[in-house]
Amino acid sequence: MGIIKVTSDDIKVQSEAIASLRDYFTMRASERGTAFTYDIHTYGCQLNESDSEKLIGMFQQMGLTENDPASGKEPDIVLLNTCAVRENAEDRLFGNLGEFKKVKKVNKDLTIVVCGCMMKVEENVARIKKSFPYVDLVFDPQQLHRFPELLKDSLNIKKQVINVGTEDYIADDSLVPIARQRKFRALVPIMYGCNNFCTYCIVPYARGRERSRDFDSIIEELKTLADQGYKEIMLLGQNVNSYAGDDGKHTFPELLRAAAEMKEFSRIRFMSSHPKDLSDEVIDIMASYKNMETHLHLPVQSGSDRLLKIMNRPYNIEQYMRTVDLFRSRIPDGAISTDIIVGFPGETEEDFQGTLDVVKAARFDSAFTFQYSPRPGTKAAAMTDDFIPHDVVTERFGRLLELQNNLTFESNKARIGKVEEILIEGESSTAPDILTGRTRSNHLVNFTIPESLKIPGMTANDYEGRLCTVKIDNARPYSIDGVMESLL
Ligand code: SAH
Ligand code: SF4
Ligand code: F3S
Repeated sequence: MGIIKVTSDDIKVQSEAIASLRDYFTMRASERGTAFTYDIHTYGCQLNESDSEKLIGMFQQMGLTENDPASGKEPDIVLLNTCAVRENAEDRLFGNLGEFKKVKKVNKDLTIVVCGCMMKVEENVARIKKSFPYVDLVFDPQQLHRFPELLKDSLNIKKQVINVGTEDYIADDSLVPIARQRKFRALVPIMYGCNNFCTYCIVPYARGRERSRDFDSIIEELKTLADQGYKEIMLLGQNVNSYAGDDGKHTFPELLRAAAEMKEFSRIRFMSSHPKDLSDEVIDIMASYKNMETHLHLPVQSGSDRLLKIMNRPYNIEQYMRTVDLFRSRIPDGAISTDIIVGFPGETEEDFQGTLDVVKAARFDSAFTFQYSPRPGTKAAAMTDDFIPHDVVTERFGRLLELQNNLTFESNKARIGKVEEILIEGESSTAPDILTGRTRSNHLVNFTIPESLKIPGMTANDYEGRLCTVKIDNARPYSIDGVMESLL
């Protein structure tokens, strides 16, 4: 137990394991005449995406490349980085694992690795041991930096290796390889774990105790990212507002301000914010810097003060709405998104009405809505007497969705006629010649480039990470359309 710092000795062990795996894969590849490849599947939140960037970084250092499905070949290592936040996320994993059994029949070299939050839930590990003996390696998210040694063990001993511990490690991210998956966007975890223990949530069990990264090390990383040309940074944590540095002497506003001062970045984003910890100062910073995203993700979870208490969310709707109102008055063009759970144990129709009311009052620009899913080991999972029948949950969920869909559409319509600054993310999947990007308020925009603005020889990819202005001329339920006015 406890929080352990990953030392330079640990990183040395990691590098040695990577070097020896590199030799091994090179030798085996020349024996069989084809290179070794990996395939990675990431579920869950941006923290998992960030972890996957580190795992891919390690794969690359081992000399592996990503398997190209078009090659018709099967990968040699399949890694599943799992999420445990809701039951359906777990169902997907076990469904997929069955599929990989078939791949293993085709490629005898195949190594199957399962890591991520699900591996901190005993039942899941037990199920893998019992029903999926062909899974080669299991480890938990806190042991990410040990992946190379564990993989080496697994290849050596040729039986299932399970490494799930109780320690919460914190590594200096500048020492580990990171293969960033977006040309313009860098995910920067500033803290790991969570201490809030909302009674429905598995994250504190899966990710361990809250631990903040060293302030100077984050600043160094940001400077490097600026030098490397990254335009958007996303500061990540389960509750970024309780960031304290590794010495407890720093604050999130201090970090956010330091990031916003770096003019090389055109967008600074952060998530998630817990309503109990979001300070007015953060809203102030969002209002004061042009490179700050004007979007706030502020999960409300429920509109019932009674349920918020049972959820162990220490704020009430009056306090929540005070923050919303402050944000709306300081940043009138901004957007607020939220997370909402429907059907938490004991939720009455009156509680649910409270949720509909807060959604109407806050006029959320978008929302992630979830049906309550009991998670093993959490307090709420033991409230079985209060579980809400499935049909009641789905009926309420439908009503909430309809309300929110209307609000999202309204929020999109309100953008029509405006000229917005867009960070271009690349070619849209909707049609050729259409680019996609986001406004400062995180609205998704698909737009065309008028002939007069087209630069000969410039492909959609070249626009990725550039800023432009777009005149919005149409709203759809989940996105907006427009025409580029100028490339910045
Ligand atoms: N740390 C973030 C949330 C991480 S989990 C925060 O506190 O804002 C993302 C969302 O999943 C939560 O906000 C919650 O709405 C939802 N969620 C978590 N546990 C859940 C459960 N057991 N059932 C349904 N939804 C859940
Ligand atoms: Fe889960 Fe609550 Fe922590 Fe968010 S703050 S990760 S919902 S326990
Ligand atoms: Fe899922 Fe773990 Fe994130 S449980 S939501 S991947 S922290």
